Amino acid sequence: MSDFVGLKVFAPATVANVAVGYDILGFAIEGPGDEIKIGYGKNPGLKIRAIHGAKNKLPKSIEKNTAGVAAQALLKYLGKEEMPIEMDIYKKMPFASGMGSSAASAVAGAFAVNEFLGCPLNKKELLPFVLKGEQVADGAYHADNVAPSLMGGIVLIRNNQEHDIINLPVPNGIYAVVIHPEISVLTSESRSILSDTITMDQMIEQSGNLAAFVASLYRSDLELMKRSLKDIIVEPQRAKLIPHFYDLKDIALKNEALGFSISGAGPSLFALCQNSLIAENVATKICEHLISKGIESQSYISEINKEGAIKL
Ligand code: HSE
Repeated sequence: MSDFVGLKVFAPATVANVAVGYDILGFAIEGPGDEIKIGYGKNPGLKIRAIHGAKNKLPKSIEKNTAGVAAQALLKYLGKEEMPIEMDIYKKMPFASGMGSSAASAVAGAFAVNEFLGCPLNKKELLPFVLKGEQVADGAYHADNVAPSLMGGIVLIRNNQEHDIINLPVPNGIYAVVIHPEISVLTSESRSILSDTITMDQMIEQSGNLAAFVASLYRSDLELMKRSLKDIIVEPQRAKLIPHFYDLKDIALKNEALGFSISGAGPSLFALCQNSLIAENVATKICEHLISKGIESQSYISEINKEGAIKL
């Protein structure tokens, strides 16, 4: 396939929920993510020419692809739906993984269009369009993957419907470990098994953990972070989807991780660590345990990505 003149953007993978903030907290990581090349097409309208790195498992149709939906929503808003535009998507991360693959596509799609048109909107203004794209993936409206992929850093969402997001401070030196075990968990299933109700006691305990985690970021207080990175509501319900989850958690915490839980809807897992040495050790021990149980996995070790979506 011939190349076209245009530009290229990147949107990073993300960890959603971060144990304490189901649907309202996420951070971006360095390394894996989606690249999109965008340029002028031959015919009016938006077209996805090719998707690389997805083994033909992702739809090229604009209405079904999260990048296509987000890009199209932005073009419509700008009154440029008829503009001849083509995109090539390069998936440089596993999909259906709990690492925000559909969100990275949605962010890269809208961000690419915005850059191609000379940045009519700022990054934060792209949020409603990327959310629309992300919604195609699991039918739900939550920005805990798209917001950090777009903005970078650790992002708290005060209200998903109102697109009210807050970038939180990132303590110096902390590292994230993300482990992707080669097992399959559907986001829709992982959401549908969750109970609709929680008790008042659970609400009180989880609010305490979320608030204290946010405080730990503002104070760079890693001991407080360690005490607060606890999910008493969602993790216990989803742990059964991930074989050996509690053994893996035990290994991570015994090896000095500050916290360990499920990344997004799973099957990926994440740990936050005080430094890169601890992160590497935690990643090695988790992967070794998984392989001893016959489960292959990939690990990603990175600082928190502070830039979010970028033009390459
Ligand atoms: N907050 C979402 C969930 C992230 O846990 O289901 C995955 O899309």
